Amino acid sequence: ETEVEIHDFDFPFEGPFGSYDTMQLQRGLKIYTEVCAACHGLERVAFRTLHDETGPALPEDQMRAYAANFEVFDKALADGEGDYRAATPADYYPASSLSNAPDLSLMAKSRAGFHGPYGTGISQFVNGMGGAEYIASLMDGYEEEPACAAEMETPMEGAYNVAFANGGFPDACKDEHGHHTVPGSWIAMPQPLYGDDVEFDDGHEATLESESQDVAAFLMWAAEPKMTARKQAGLTGVIFLSLLSVLLYLTNKRIWAPHK
Ligand code: HEM
Repeated sequence: ETEVEIHDFDFPFEGPFGSYDTMQLQRGLKIYTEVCAACHGLERVAFRTLHDETGPALPEDQMRAYAANFEVFDKALADGEGDYRAATPADYYPASSLSNAPDLSLMAKSRAGFHGPYGTGISQFVNGMGGAEYIASLMDGYEEEPACAAEMETPMEGAYNVAFANGGFPDACKDEHGHHTVPGSWIAMPQPLYGDDVEFDDGHEATLESESQDVAAFLMWAAEPKMTARKQAGLTGVIFLSLLSVLLYLTNKRIWAPHK
């Protein structure tokens, strides 16, 4: 089994009262657009949703101008032959342009950062699934190849990443029982972020660690845009049920009072 190093970041959308931080989502959007979109698609996200109040909340004119930067293939154009045109708010992001780079729309929900202990899932119950933590740790997880691999005659393909579990792993880094002696594995994605990869209009810092969290937060929103509404509905439900419990308790006392 592969050991991985996942950090437990404090995201603003965690916990029962958590919600997305608009400014963080806008920073993450910028990082996705300027760095990740070169390889990764976001096929299930419609441009109009960038205007959502509980999402990146781009002003409508900015959202329209942003969409127009993308080209989509429209089958209805050119007498049914189809042609490219600028995207409108109703369109969705394009698919991945690099065939082996997965679409990122649902990535934050399809990966987990926390596991165990011993398959019980208690860590996820306490800390959440950790999809955003996984993505942030992956961005931040590139390290120099461990000595065991650096000495090999044919070098490993890909880059060494301590947060990535499913990549290639050399026999040279296994002990006599086949256990891995170093965390992580080799990933086909070259390190995408180094720090200062983008410049924010408000001068916000762009260290590797903050960029990693910002793009992870954006991808969490992409995968679960209605999280804020879901949490509010849940909280309303809990408050309602608590009140109901009190009333039913008092009613019950009153009904049985004459018989005691
Ligand atoms: C895989 C995120 C930029 C190429 C992935 C995965 C994530 C991710 C979450 C899935 C890892 C997994 O399977 O658990 C990002 C983010 C980026 C970014 C947030 C921008 C900050 C790029 C760029 C390229 C790229 C610029 C191309 C040069 C790939 C490839 C894979 C991958 C080829 C498949 C790796 C494998 O399965 O070995 N990326 N990526 N990514 N990405 Fe990226």
